[in-house]
Amino acid sequence: MANRKHGRLHHLVQILLYPLTWLEERSGLVGGVKYFLFRKVPSDISWGHTLGSAALTAFIVQAVTGVILAMYYKPDPNSAYESIRHITDDVTLGWLVRGMHRWGASVFIILLFLHMGRVFLYGAYKYPRELNWIVGVLILVLGMMEGFFGYLLPWDQTAYWATVVGVNLQATGPFVGPFLGDILRGGAEIGPDTLARFYSLHMLVLPGALIGLIVLHLYLVVRLGVTSPPWSPGAAGKERPGPPPPKRAGLVEPKPRGARLR
Ligand code: HEM
Repeated sequence: MANRKHGRLHHLVQILLYPLTWLEERSGLVGGVKYFLFRKVPSDISWGHTLGSAALTAFIVQAVTGVILAMYYKPDPNSAYESIRHITDDVTLGWLVRGMHRWGASVFIILLFLHMGRVFLYGAYKYPRELNWIVGVLILVLGMMEGFFGYLLPWDQTAYWATVVGVNLQATGPFVGPFLGDILRGGAEIGPDTLARFYSLHMLVLPGALIGLIVLHLYLVVRLGVTSPPWSPGAAGKERPGPPPPKRAGLVEPKPRGARLR
């Protein structure tokens, strides 16, 4: 009797898991996600190490709320402000989605700085994670550009004049300054062309580039592993105790800095 019950339960579990088994057999994706979520990390990591994932969560919130806003927003000087007013006052929960996107932008940047501070204070940018630090710096620059280009979109007085100041600042730079100013404005003055290109950069180009860089960043985190705090015997820049990590096949054989190349 117990055996039959167990057999039925096993059968039910197999039916429920069938879509995942189907996907795993054809792509290996399920195994990949499992590897990412259940990979080993040092035992002495702490809350500071959650800041990267917090930044990722803030980015996902920005992406989701941004897609919803883009369904109602109109990137044209005659209707941009009115479409924002419509989102805030008429669309169901529009005020919430807009508020989350507006405040979430600051939360994202603050989390980026906190995460970067943790990495800096723990020396986690040292060999072999320099490349991931560089990728992080690019993410930070593009993240701040997102804020700059998004600020103009409501097309109200604050947005307009803040952009005038921002663009003029770029335009006063030496040599490339005036050229950069023209590119940003899409002409000699801020107008419909400026709004269209800021919109395109804000919701297409920069998010696309950011997604690519974040995927690369996370790949490097998984490949290189997470560092222990500086007070740990296995901290960044020190040799980890225990057997050396397995060698990876490749064109070159990486060596710790200072090691002699044969
Ligand atoms: C969207 C932005 C970002 C996301 C989603 C992100 C995500 C993560 C995650 C999940 C980790 C592993 C756990 C942790 O240390 O928190 C990590 C580690 C790391 N991040 Fe970021 N990060 C971002 C931005 C940055 C920035 C701006 C920098 C520096 C300029 C940076 C540099 C690093 C480095 C060097 C590591 C390795 C740390 C270690 O091994 O202990 N990241 N990142």
